Amino acid sequence: MAPVAAACGNPSEDPQFSQVRPPVPGGEVALTTDVPVGGCQVFAPKGTVVTQPVEGDFRAFEAECSHKGCFVASSTEGHIPCRCHGSRFDLTDGSVLGGPARSALPPVEIEVRDGRIFTA
Ligand code: FES
Repeated sequence: MAPVAAACGNPSEDPQFSQVRPPVPGGEVALTTDVPVGGCQVFAPKGTVVTQPVEGDFRAFEAECSHKGCFVASSTEGHIPCRCHGSRFDLTDGSVLGGPARSALPPVEIEVRDGRIFTA
């Protein structure tokens, strides 16, 4: 599954997100090798951001920012950034590190099998 290099923007205005849909239970989201340690990668077809806070520990969240609905961005900066208005979210639990967002990114349950990440 191809990661999105510069994922950010209003889903309704950004053509790369025209196919975005909620995560599908049991669907493959990503390869573990696509997700940087200490960072995150957004996967547009599933609308999911997958993080790897420490090596081998994968988490996933809905990629739509809780502020005004832009998609958060892929990053190696140690947090999940939203480039629309500067909100930052924690890699481990999706909580807000810096506003204007006030709510955490909703978690997406995942399973990791054979180097692949699936929604649970
Ligand atoms: S939409 Fe993300 S910070 Fe505003």
